[in-house]
Amino acid sequence: MRAAIITLSDSGYAGQREDRSGPVIRAMAEEAGYEVVHTALLPDGVEPLAGELKRLCDGDLADLVLTTGGTGFSPTDLTPEATLSVVERLAPGIAEAMRWQSLQITPRAMLSRAAAGIRGKTLIVNLPGSPKAVRECLEFILPALGHGLEILR
Ligand code: MTE
Repeated sequence: MRAAIITLSDSGYAGQREDRSGPVIRAMAEEAGYEVVHTALLPDGVEPLAGELKRLCDGDLADLVLTTGGTGFSPTDLTPEATLSVVERLAPGIAEAMRWQSLQITPRAMLSRAAAGIRGKTLIVNLPGSPKAVRECLEFILPALGHGLEILR
């Protein structure tokens, strides 16, 4: 299965902060057997991410798109809005599972507005922004995603 990874960060996009979460996702996805076919670092906001998601899904360039960052309450945190603007079908159980598992670790997990859904044959999953959160969420959801992706094809 092909995975694409998109990091949402204004400071990362401006070159003021290193993207530490994208590489964590890449390592964990590769460990789980995914081929990482694309990575991108985008500024926060609906339009850049929505455009990139449409390009990846409509071109059937990835089976799974994992985003990181922009799921919180800051006015610039618009990753769920971008995701929900392009998906055709919701996959709410994935975000619910991440929050449920993450709440065992920190009450702040309830502050992630992460969404998940399907466009065409591609599953899009929002992950929170910190490397720690990425690791905690992926450890829990990755074992279940493969079965969903097989059915989606
Ligand atoms: N989920 C897990 N598993 N571990 C975490 O440390 N941090 C939370 C939450 N989800 C966290 C987590 C915090 S502090 C915030 S503000 C939200 O994710 C949103 O993060 P984001 O804006 O970087 O996407």
